[in-house]
Amino acid sequence: MSRHLQLPNGLDGAEHAAFRALIDPYLMDGAALQSIEGMAREVMQALLADLPLPATVEAVTDLGAKYAVRVQQRWLGWQPGLEPRLLAWMEENRAASRSGDREWTARVARAFDEIIQGELALRRDHAGYPAGDDVTSRLMRDDRLGRPLRDEELVSILRNWTAGDLGSLALCTGVVLHALAENPALQAHLRAGLPVPAFDRVLDELLRQDSPFVANRRRATQHTTLAGVDIPTGTIVHVNWTAANRDPRTVSHPDGFGPEENAPANIVYGAGPHACPGRALSTLELRVFTQELLNATTRLSLAGETERELPPGGGYARVPLRLE
Ligand code: HEM
Repeated sequence: MSRHLQLPNGLDGAEHAAFRALIDPYLMDGAALQSIEGMAREVMQALLADLPLPATVEAVTDLGAKYAVRVQQRWLGWQPGLEPRLLAWMEENRAASRSGDREWTARVARAFDEIIQGELALRRDHAGYPAGDDVTSRLMRDDRLGRPLRDEELVSILRNWTAGDLGSLALCTGVVLHALAENPALQAHLRAGLPVPAFDRVLDELLRQDSPFVANRRRATQHTTLAGVDIPTGTIVHVNWTAANRDPRTVSHPDGFGPEENAPANIVYGAGPHACPGRALSTLELRVFTQELLNATTRLSLAGETERELPPGGGYARVPLRLE
């Protein structure tokens, strides 16, 4: 839908498949995910060590956003000094998206591209060669398309891994912590130490009930019929993940809590060729975040009025939380 280069989501067919083949290993490879897990634990433990408990925090800003930024920076090998700039950018990006002001949104997007361009420039020696072993340098050297990626392609890929993800991940932490604070039985269930697959299905189910990633837009490239609805070529289709995740035709108890029963119908991370390649990474980040917070505390409870995020986002903008 966008006028701008969007890799890989703006592509289709063979071209899309080629870019997914290039991108997916960075996000899904088992060994890579294992090393990210150790690093994410360190980040969360350090964040918690700075909080003298008991404490009252605002979960999305004080915990979720900081954790998302620090894990991303270390994963991509970006300069640690960027943290305040990235946190300020996330706040402004949310405000710009909520305002519906396209000019402001475009300006904020350009500001993020400048951050990425700065990281690319830092890695180039006199011959333009990035020698480092960090993910950003490896992507710059990647020639599996039969040529190195052009700068605009690098920026688009890295923007998709960061700009979109940082905000969504922070909002996901708000949804999960709000649910745990409101539901002591669920909190006790997770504190008891569930096996990883069952723990992840609980996280998926909480996001099914309240996903921060509400919708995407698509344009039909050919005439088709979907669930009896005629969709002519060129039609703009609003894909509402939240509605689909509560559709009684596919989810037997849309308002119930059923991590196991509802898993087959859960499409929080999309479906088909464009399904989210970051699913394993964001589930891992969210699991580590929640486990470490539960390990460091005996009780989480709400400490004031929550505030919902406004469209186009979902979940909570603010979750005041008491940590004991
Ligand atoms: C935090 C929770 C996340 C949620 C709820 C989420 C959700 C989604 C959904 C629903 C789609 C499908 C879009 C479509 O069909 O048009 C998608 C696509 C995508 N996601 Fe995620 N995502 C998350 C995190 C991440 C992370 C951590 C990354 C990468 C670091 C990522 C990278 C992408 C990319 C590159 C696409 C486009 C894939 C394509 O078009 O082939 N996402 N995501």
